[in-house]
This record gives sequence, structure tokens and C-alpha cells, in this order.
Amino acid sequence: GLPEYVKIVEVGPRDGLQNEKVIVPTDVKIEFINQLSQTGLSVIEVTSFVPSKWVPQYVSFDDVCRLRDTGLNDKICSPPLTPKNLFNPRMADHTEVMKGIHQYPGVRYPVLTPNLQGLHRAVAAGATEVSVFGAASESFSKKNINCSIEESMEKFEEVIKSARHMNIPVRGYVSCVLGCPYEGSITPQKVTEVSKRLYGMGCYEISLGDTTGVGTPGSMKRMLESVIKEIPPSALAVHCHDTYGQALANILTALQMGINVVDSAVSGLGGCPYAKGASGNVATEDLVYMLNGLGLNTGVNLYKVMEAGNFICKAVNKTTNSKVAQASFNA
Ligand code: HMG
Ligand code: MG
Repeated sequence: GLPEYVKIVEVGPRDGLQNEKVIVPTDVKIEFINQLSQTGLSVIEVTSFVPSKWVPQYVSFDDVCRLRDTGLNDKICSPPLTPKNLFNPRMADHTEVMKGIHQYPGVRYPVLTPNLQGLHRAVAAGATEVSVFGAASESFSKKNINCSIEESMEKFEEVIKSARHMNIPVRGYVSCVLGCPYEGSITPQKVTEVSKRLYGMGCYEISLGDTTGVGTPGSMKRMLESVIKEIPPSALAVHCHDTYGQALANILTALQMGINVVDSAVSGLGGCPYAKGASGNVATEDLVYMLNGLGLNTGVNLYKVMEAGNFICKAVNKTTNSKVAQASFNA
């Protein structure tokens, strides 16, 4: 049967904005997060504490990723742009955002931290909950966090140990659980192995990411059947991107298998700079609409979420990816 309550983890301010063409002003991000805090959402992922070095204005973020992958970088750019001088400029204001938001009672505000340096900066900025982010694909791990899966696990272990001393809960992401932009298919065994490792290290929840949105209810079911053998469904979340229009179907499959935590982004914003072509997360509006229709409780007010979506779409000058928001505005 389906769970009675579904916890929605809103990742719009982080996953949603990390891939936007325009760099969103800090005060807009703060206003966006403050609006989300008043919608009934209980978890809002705020930003990521990844390095953010200066990026020359004449080279776009996408150009740099492309250059890095083609090897032309050294010839064209002087000094060459490397992973060491370009990470995620869109998250450069992480400290200001973290300090600037109003932390509403009953709402948690996790942030991404790939390493100890990130953890320390996050804590200094006022974070009380963090997430590490690994992958079930070697190639994606290399591109996204510049190390192998094994090396990433060593870094995460340090983060988790250090966080535990500060009483900071750590969530663990696993990317590419239903496919990888570089390697293609990924086995349920590999996903299970990485997830089990993070859970064993002390992550309280494992968020299974379909980074490129290639999964279907079929592959979601096979993957979860494997992971559930090692980790209780109550400690799992699904994180679906909607590239192939399968996100809601995949989420429903996960709910039917006992999972009751779902990541989503208002307006369907989002994507990963290291997963070219991947589109946004499932839209929070569409998720809430489906869960309301199933009679499941989320505590989230659909109308208020649509207002927050409208606000951020205007700010980044794009139309919403949420079907529910589109239908409502046309009504
Ligand atoms: P690296 O180059 O291996 O790191 O990058 P390093 O330890 O060698 O350090 C390089 C430089 O960065 C040094 O500075 C460090 O001090 C500094 P320098 O000596 O050159 O002046 N540095 C830092 N500065 C500030 N904060 C830090 C930090 N760490 C190092 N935390 C690293 C490794 C992981 C840092 C890098 O590859 C990185 O930041 N990657 C993150 C990329 C990213 O943001 N990806 C998107 C998020 S993941 C995602 O979207 C998927 C998800 O949504 C789920 C799904 O959909 O599947 C979660
Ligand atoms: Mg994502």
C-alpha cells in the first residue's frame, strides 16, 4: 500500500538554480527560500558549499564544461580553465544565502558539502544539516567531484565523522542510479553497493538520483528491489529528473514500494552541470497535485508553492516546467 504521509525535499534553490543560465542575485534566492518556507515544506535544500572561483565573463559555464571535456581548454584559454578554477559559480554566494534566509521553525535547511572544507564552511555559515553526494558511476564521479567512487567514500567518511561530533545529520545522495550520461546503464548491484556504504557510514537517508531522467517504472522497480534488500525503505528517498517525462510514474512506483521521501524542485527547475542534456527535477507543484489526488498528506499548500514558482520563474526569466502551474495559469 501507499504511505499516508510523504515528505517532500524541495531542492529548487540548489539543484534548480545550479544549472540556470543566468546567475540569480543573492537577494532573489533569499526571497525565494523565504517564500518556500511558508508553503508547508519541511525540508528546503538551500545551496552547496563547493568551491566557486572567478569565471571570465566571456566564457559561459557550459562552454567551460565543454572545453574541459574536449581537451581544447589549454589551447584556447590562458591560463587554462580547470576544475580547480571553475566549479559551480552559481553557488558562489552560499554563505550569504545561508546567513540571509529566515530559518522558520519546523523547516530544515540542508546544504551540499562534498568534503571537509565544505562542511566547515557550511557550519560557519549556520548550516545544521548537510548532504554528501556520491555516484553509482565511476565516470560521473570523476566528472562531478573529480575523484573515483572509492576516493569519494573516504572523503565522505571524514565529513560524516566530523558532522557526527557536531550533531549534524548527514544525507547521502547517490547519482546515476538508473543510468549514467557517460557509461549508459548502471546495475542495481552497483547502486546497492554504494548506497549501503553511505548508509553504513551513518547517512540517515539515502537519496537515489536519476540524474539524467532516463529511468522508467520498470528500471526503478528493479533498482529498488535490490536496494531495499540492504536498506529499509524508510531510509530511502527518490530524486527524479524529468528529461524523458517519466518522473511522476517513477515516483509512484517508489511510493508503491514503501518509499515516502521524494525530492522535487518548484517549477521543475534544475539539472546538473556535469550531466549534459539532463533537464529539471520533477516539479514540486506536479508532485503535490499527484499526492493530493492519491489522498496522501504532505503538509504542503499547492497554491503557495505555485506562487513561489511564479516568483522564481519571473526572476530567471523563464516559463514554468510545471504542467500543473501551466494549466492553472491558463484556467
Ligand atoms: P578538487 O579539485 O578535487 O578539490 O575538486 P581539491 O580538494 O583538490 O581542491 C581544489 C581547490 O578548491 C583548492 O583551492 C581547495 O582549497 C578548494 P586552491 O588550493 O586551488 O586555491 N576547495 C574548496 N573551496 C571551498 N569549498 C570547498 C572546497 N573544496 C576544495 N568545499 C570538488 C573536488 C568536490 C571540490 C569539486 O569537484 C566540486 O566542487 N564538485 C561539485 C560539482 C557540483 O556542484 N555538482 C553539482 C551537484 S551534484 C548533483 O547535481 C546531483 C544531485 O542533484 C543528485 C542527482 O540528480 O543525481 C545531487
Ligand atoms: Mg539532481
